[in-house]
Order: sequence, then C-alpha cells, then structure tokens
Amino acid sequence: MTARTHGHAVIRPFTADEWPVWREIRLRGTEDSPDASAETVEELLEHDDEWWIDLVTSTVDHPRGMLAGAFIDEAPVGMAYGRVDADLTTHGLGGMWVAPEARGTGLGRALAEYVIDWGATHGVDRYELWVTDGNDSAEQLYLSLGYRRTNTTRPLRQGSDRTIVLMERRAEPEEA
Ligand SMILES: CC(C)(COP(=O)(O)OP(=O)(O)OC[C@H]1O[C@@H](n2cnc3c(N)ncnc32)[C@H](O)[C@@H]1OP(=O)(O)O)[C@@H](O)C(=O)NCCC(=O)NCCS
Repeated sequence: MTARTHGHAVIRPFTADEWPVWREIRLRGTEDSPDASAETVEELLEHDDEWWIDLVTSTVDHPRGMLAGAFIDEAPVGMAYGRVDADLTTHGLGGMWVAPEARGTGLGRALAEYVIDWGATHGVDRYELWVTDGNDSAEQLYLSLGYRRTNTTRPLRQGSDRTIVLMERRAEPEEA
C-alpha cells in the first residue's frame, strides 16, 4: 500500500524493522486511552523484545495483515491495524489511536480510510470493528464511515466493567 499524505502527516504501513516505534506508539496509545485498549499498559510492559518483534514481523509480512502509522516529521502520531479473514470476506479494523495533539484534523478518518481501502484491495464484502460503548467520538467517526452498531457485545477485557460493541459495514456502505 503506497503512502498517503494528510496535511503534514504521512500515512503508511509500518515496516518490520520499525517494531520499536510500533511498541512506543502502542504503549502511548494504551496509556492515553485505557478504555479503548484490549490490553493494559502493565500487560504490554510484560512482553520482551522478541514478543514485539514477532508481533510486528508476523503482521507486516502477512499478506492479510497491515499495521498503519501516521507520522509527522517522522514522529508517530497515529496508528491502526487491519486484517482480512482467510476466506477473504471480512476485514477487521482495530488499534485506532491518534495522539491528542493531532486530533480533530481529520487524521483519524484518513487513517481508518487507509486501512479500509487496503481491505478493499482483497475484495472483502464485510468490514467490522469493536468500539467501547460510550466512546462517542470514535463511534461517530465509524458511523460516518458507514459502520453500524450490531447487538453483539463483550467485555473490553477480562474483569473489565466496560463493554465493547461490534460495528459492521457492507462493502457498499449506507449513507451516514
Ligand atoms: C477516535 C480518534 C481516533 C479520532 O481521531 P481524530 O483524528 O481526532 O478524528 P478526525 O479528526 O478524523 O474526526 C473524524 C470524525 O470523528 C468524529 N469525532 C472526532 N472527534 C470527535 C469528538 N471529540 N466528538 C465527537 N465526534 C468526534 C467526528 O465524526 C469527526 O468527523 P467531523 O470532523 O467531520 O465531524 C481519536 O479521538 C482517538 O485516538 N481517541 C482515543 C482512542 C480511541 O478512542 N480509539 C478508538 C478505538 S475503537
């Protein structure tokens, strides 16, 4: 997937050798937005370098996986990931996070569209994601991209009182 620009930001896939950068932004995002993350910072900090190298390498080297980053002057300010099921029908968007200083400029939308457009290159006919119930800014973004809430929910993580909701979109989204 070729890089795109959004204002001063460049949106592009992470490369395998950038695993420390992915780790840095993943930790920053989880620290900033604990209720939007399946893992806690404490859980992430337990992982050694090998775990991060394996996570990043196995995703970016996989034909149905994508780690996307938004960078301003080479510094990471946003992330998202995408994956496509083995039967090439369903695309999943996750890990969406934009640094507070870069929010409200359309970067989150541009990142999501980047990962969705990557999914479209696989010919999928269904797009899904999980959003924490009550995360209105994120839900609003996904609604405007054509996703709709389903009745499928589950806890954010074991022991959490927060609920995540499955949202889905057909290949040709309804008007928002
Ligand atoms: C959700 C998030 C990724 C949005 O990123 P962003 O760069 O600020 O979003 P954009 O500027 O592209 O805005 C896109 C749309 O999101 C919605 N939105 C963004 N911020 C909003 C806010 N504070 N209140 C209401 N809606 C908001 C709007 O629909 C907006 O479209 P509009 O500008 O045409 O009104 C960002 O707020 C974030 O990282 N939040 C913390 C982590 C998180 O909640 N991730 C989602 C996990 S599912």
